[in-house]
Amino acid sequence: MAFSKDFIWGVAGASYQVEGAWNEDGKGPSIWDTYTHSRQSPVKQHDTGDIACDHYHHMKEDVALLKELGVKAYRFSISWSRVIPDGFGEVNPKGLAFYSDLVDELLANGVEPMITLYHWDLPQAIHDRGGWLNPDIVTWFERYTKIIVDALSDRVKYWITINEPQIFIGLGCYTGVHAPFLKLCDRDVILMSKHVFLAHGHAVRTIREYAKQSSKIGFAPTGPTFIPDNESAEAIEEARKKSFAFNPDGYLFSNSWWADPICLGKFPDGAKEFFGDLIPDFTEEEWSIIRSPLDFYGCNIYNASRDETDIAATDAKNGLVGEPITAINWPITPDALYWSARFFYERYQLPVLITENGCANTDYVFLDGKVHDPQRIDYTTRYLRGYYRASKENIPLVGYIYWSFMDNFEWGIGYSARFGLVHVNYQTQVRTIKDSGYWYRDVIASNGEIIWKE
Ligand code: NOJ
Repeated sequence: MAFSKDFIWGVAGASYQVEGAWNEDGKGPSIWDTYTHSRQSPVKQHDTGDIACDHYHHMKEDVALLKELGVKAYRFSISWSRVIPDGFGEVNPKGLAFYSDLVDELLANGVEPMITLYHWDLPQAIHDRGGWLNPDIVTWFERYTKIIVDALSDRVKYWITINEPQIFIGLGCYTGVHAPFLKLCDRDVILMSKHVFLAHGHAVRTIREYAKQSSKIGFAPTGPTFIPDNESAEAIEEARKKSFAFNPDGYLFSNSWWADPICLGKFPDGAKEFFGDLIPDFTEEEWSIIRSPLDFYGCNIYNASRDETDIAATDAKNGLVGEPITAINWPITPDALYWSARFFYERYQLPVLITENGCANTDYVFLDGKVHDPQRIDYTTRYLRGYYRASKENIPLVGYIYWSFMDNFEWGIGYSARFGLVHVNYQTQVRTIKDSGYWYRDVIASNGEIIWKE
């Protein structure tokens, strides 16, 4: 009962969440730098990513840990403003060198690099020019992609264009709880969506055209998956419908608002009827760029949804009374991985890569010097068992990327949540592999066999 031989076991992180060195070696500020520094920042305890895990200075040590965990792939993101300080002007050679060295170090240690081009840290200078509202962002993103592809594609095969548009537009520009803390109206976020679609599509084309080796390209959306109440055909159909429904109140957080244009070349049913002229025109050429063929459907899945009235709800109010929850109140719903893989594959016909899944826990170093986190081991075991069902049913699966490699800055709730397989002491920057890290190493070594052990 193992996964397929070429199944990719990985872990993930993202630039702003781990790197620190926010203003070193020529890096320009991103919106997360600027707005976490503002007096009005709603981030818990006013935490910032200024230092975070100081991965910028601990890169080699961190790659050694990845090797110790035995992971096959490391998903990391590039800080656009580290490479191009204002996002569209001069390249910062030291910024580019950091990622080139990281890629070399990974490969030297037998770890496949998997690059996310955009994980929310928009260059401030681009935001100052309107950010995702400015149509020029499409060209700027295309140029940035080309610079990264020219520098790294001789060694990098796996590419993820954008991470969770649901969140950087939805929480960043609509509900205002993530930087840049905006609360815009439909018209503006719909225009932003168009620019996100085009930036993604142009990035895909740039990678295909200029990569120095054949590439595997996807994006990493999140979104609600509904689990059927039972396995009758009717219940399954109802869950499927809800998972892709267009809901005027939660559309930015939905699957279909983002993935239907990118994978099917159209808006979800109901969207045009509801928004009318608020949806700008798209030319045929634009649609063909947006739906440039992908190699996998990446998805960040943490739990299933139940509450249809609040499609963005991810916390306990979305669960059943007394249901198990993680340390940040997210319901534990292991079958989410099976139903997500199945529904996404059925609709978009792409092999599935779980680009994120993981458990926040209240981890600390015990008196014996170790970090015991049985909840995370239990959580991941259950989710992987759910995912395995998809493998058994011959749904093509690329792999599973655990979020996260190490504890890090968790956006709106700062350092109060720990998702890592590796514990980070933020005062000393000492890393400690948690029990779950050693367990994951054994999962990988057995290609998943040990998830069946009680
Ligand atoms: C979504 C994001 O991609 C990642 O940055 C975040 O830390 C995790 N999921 C957990 O919330």
